[in-house]
Amino acid sequence: MKAVLVIALTLFPLTTYANVDNKGTDQQLSELMKSTKEVVDPMPVKLKALLTDEITNNGPVKAIEMCRVKAPTMAKALSEKTGWSIKRVSIKNRNPEGKTDKWEEKTMTGFERQLAGNIDAVMEQGEIVTIKNKQYFRYAKGLKTTKECSMCHGKDENITTELKEKLKEIYPDDLAKGYDVNQVRGIISVIRPIN
Ligand code: HEC
Repeated sequence: MKAVLVIALTLFPLTTYANVDNKGTDQQLSELMKSTKEVVDPMPVKLKALLTDEITNNGPVKAIEMCRVKAPTMAKALSEKTGWSIKRVSIKNRNPEGKTDKWEEKTMTGFERQLAGNIDAVMEQGEIVTIKNKQYFRYAKGLKTTKECSMCHGKDENITTELKEKLKEIYPDDLAKGYDVNQVRGIISVIRPIN
């Protein structure tokens, strides 16, 4: 864990962020990282299993609902349970509400660099930041594209006409297309108040 944090902090020196604190001790950071990961990391694993099941049983058009309804519902339920903000965002977002903020954009760009250098890159980062005089722990986990993602986020030829039409109807400003496998599709982003 420590090694991961050290790598993350080396890639993103704290000093590059105006609003990032240097106050968190290594121990505080690694405890925050650990307890955040326990809550958040099972989410993409669960989602992917549900998505694969749905595609197999009911087909890709029906499976749109998994990414459209189930994922945000899951994130919302977890947010309510913990009191943290938990959501999925991307630089190339499909849902207009899934747009990255500055911190998320830098973090996701960093993950893209990591993944380009190592296909098994861990792609996670945790930092203590100050927002309006209050301290928060920000956590991000990279979501990598796999074969299953291509039918809805892949290149034009990988998306059926039926799906294309459906996606266009729901998301006229969709940016989340044209992906290959092993790219960073987006991140799970957490903002957790520190008491
Ligand atoms: C059946 C179609 C479908 C498949 C397969 C699919 N997605 Fe999505 N994805 C969507 C839709 C639709 C949205 C928009 C959801 C919303 O409205 O919040 C979306 C949104 C997302 C977002 C939120 C950010 C954004 O762009 O709005 C992420 C991250 C994401 N998908 C990752 C993945 C990953 C990773 C995979 C493969 C494991 C995957 N998706 C597979 C349809 C799909």
